[in-house]
Amino acid sequence: MVITIIEMLDQIKTGESKFLVEAQLQVLKMKKIWTPEGNLYVDLVLRDITGTYPHFRSKIEDDIELAKFKVGNVLQVRGEYNRDLDGVLITGTEKLEVYDLTKFVKIPEIDAKDLFSRIEKVIDEMENLWLKQLLEVIFRDEVVKNKFIDCPSAVKYHHAYLHGNLEHTVGMLMAFKNYYLDFYGKNGTKFDVDLVNAGIILQDIGKIYEYEINNGVPLYVKKYALIGHLVLGSELVAKKISAIPDFPEDLELKIKHIILSHHGKKEWGSPVEPGFPEAHVVHSLDLMDSRLRSL
Ligand SMILES: [Fe+2]
Ligand SMILES: [Fe+2]
Repeated sequence: MVITIIEMLDQIKTGESKFLVEAQLQVLKMKKIWTPEGNLYVDLVLRDITGTYPHFRSKIEDDIELAKFKVGNVLQVRGEYNRDLDGVLITGTEKLEVYDLTKFVKIPEIDAKDLFSRIEKVIDEMENLWLKQLLEVIFRDEVVKNKFIDCPSAVKYHHAYLHGNLEHTVGMLMAFKNYYLDFYGKNGTKFDVDLVNAGIILQDIGKIYEYEINNGVPLYVKKYALIGHLVLGSELVAKKISAIPDFPEDLELKIKHIILSHHGKKEWGSPVEPGFPEAHVVHSLDLMDSRLRSL
């Protein structure tokens, strides 16, 4: 009989020393463990919507079996709880292809279409035709656009869920518009408004490479995490600009600077620190939106 995590925890509480476990669970964390004899095991944190249990272990015979335990995968799990081991030793697994994801993960209610249309509106209203063209070229690329819409903004801390980075980006745009522009107005500001808006839209675009999302669980893409989303974003922009003849060099440098400086400090991962007002504005909004959403 298939049991849930909460039912399994209740059974553990009864003090039974051993019992069989059969459950459908999602992989939340996976860590490889090598024994001194050279055997490979994985320690697993598995969950369903009723709870999370961090003490599963499985022996791994080959790479195909290891791939089953990719973070985010949903598995049919058989094993035995052992009080002496204080955990469940898995004896068999099967990767499920058909399941109801809401039984494993809470999916936040985000209207991604509405959020992306707000970004499109900001782009439509841009007066700087170079920046407008750059953003149109970037989002005309369906692969980039779809990844941008789905991308989480982190693995933990803030916006660590499907569409999280879209929500973060629109949060920054709306904060700039509603908090700043509606009060001071375009003429009362010393900032280049289009440059701030383009900077907001592009500051985290490198995350489309740095993160992926598997069944609602965000994870790092190892090879791109070696570079990081600031440099990845700057490289993406450089590539797209190279397809726009005569794009002004000073504008290219400014937009790259905003992306590379948006974390504000070198110790926070920025290779350069904000060097002009628009870069300071984008950094401040990034900090505010990410902090408010991680409270
Ligand atoms: Fe960032
Ligand atoms: Fe950000």
